[in-house]
Amino acid sequence: YDYDLLVVGSANADLVIGVERRPAAGETVLGSDLAVHPGGKGGNQAVAAARLGARTALLARVGDDDYGRLLLDSQRAAGVDTVGVLVGGAPTGVALITVDPSGDNSIVVSPGANGRLAPGDVRAAASLFHASRVVSTQLEIPLETVVEVVRSLAPDSRFVLNPSPPRPLPQEVLTACDPLIVNEHEAKVILGDSLVGERPEDWARVLLAKGPRSVVVTLGAEGALVASAAGGVVRVPSVKVDAVDTTGAGDAFTAALAWRLGTGESLADAAAYAARVGAAAVTKAGAQESYPTAAEAEDLGAGAL
Ligand code: RIB
Ligand code: NA
Repeated sequence: YDYDLLVVGSANADLVIGVERRPAAGETVLGSDLAVHPGGKGGNQAVAAARLGARTALLARVGDDDYGRLLLDSQRAAGVDTVGVLVGGAPTGVALITVDPSGDNSIVVSPGANGRLAPGDVRAAASLFHASRVVSTQLEIPLETVVEVVRSLAPDSRFVLNPSPPRPLPQEVLTACDPLIVNEHEAKVILGDSLVGERPEDWARVLLAKGPRSVVVTLGAEGALVASAAGGVVRVPSVKVDAVDTTGAGDAFTAALAWRLGTGESLADAAAYAARVGAAAVTKAGAQESYPTAAEAEDLGAGAL
């Protein structure tokens, strides 16, 4: 394989304002100066993997505009192969983000060009799929494009999905996931009425029964649960850090996990490594700019729990 990881997904310009608290409907609040960061769940995953040392390619669509160029520059600076980044068709996607003093964020995404990443774009990138050991995606691109991704996988390659923002998934997509990676909110949307019990262990089991080959439930400061038919449900601890900005930490977790699984690591070991990478990402502002190198992720692991 030429690539450890192919990320198919969104690239957004993140327009970020720090706030004391979020406005209610009809309310205006004053916030910090505006910061513009390269983001998008797909772009973030690709940069996170490349920073760690994975040979990474991105299949995405940006606009022929300044934000699109900002996003391409960020990918290239991290060492991502951008041969699969298509330009034009609509303006670059934008995410309007507020970050509160605890580091928590709220995000509204205008998909723009991400919404034009079409199944035909996936078919046209067949050579990238054949060259990639692991393929990961998210749901800021059209669902029919995600379905085409699943149909385009090389026979021995592995598919990793973070269904964010969440919506019900076709069986064909669920069955391909190895793993499906969800937080609590995403688990509830995917499970819908069939959500059984209050315990995350139960969500992991019920999600697994829906067809994925494996499941990871991320629990923020509580760590993560990994679940597979062979290994049962195992809890992976988190790493305690002071949160500055959680934006994109989940994307870093997913990318790190996807890459390590491709190297043959077990799901639990890969998740423990990914938890360190995600923790490192919350200690700095922004998404892509906050992602650690492999050495930085190791340092964080050494001092923690
Ligand atoms: O997961 C974080 C990302 O979500 C941000 O970078 C923003 O662009 C949205 O896609
Ligand atoms: Na961050």
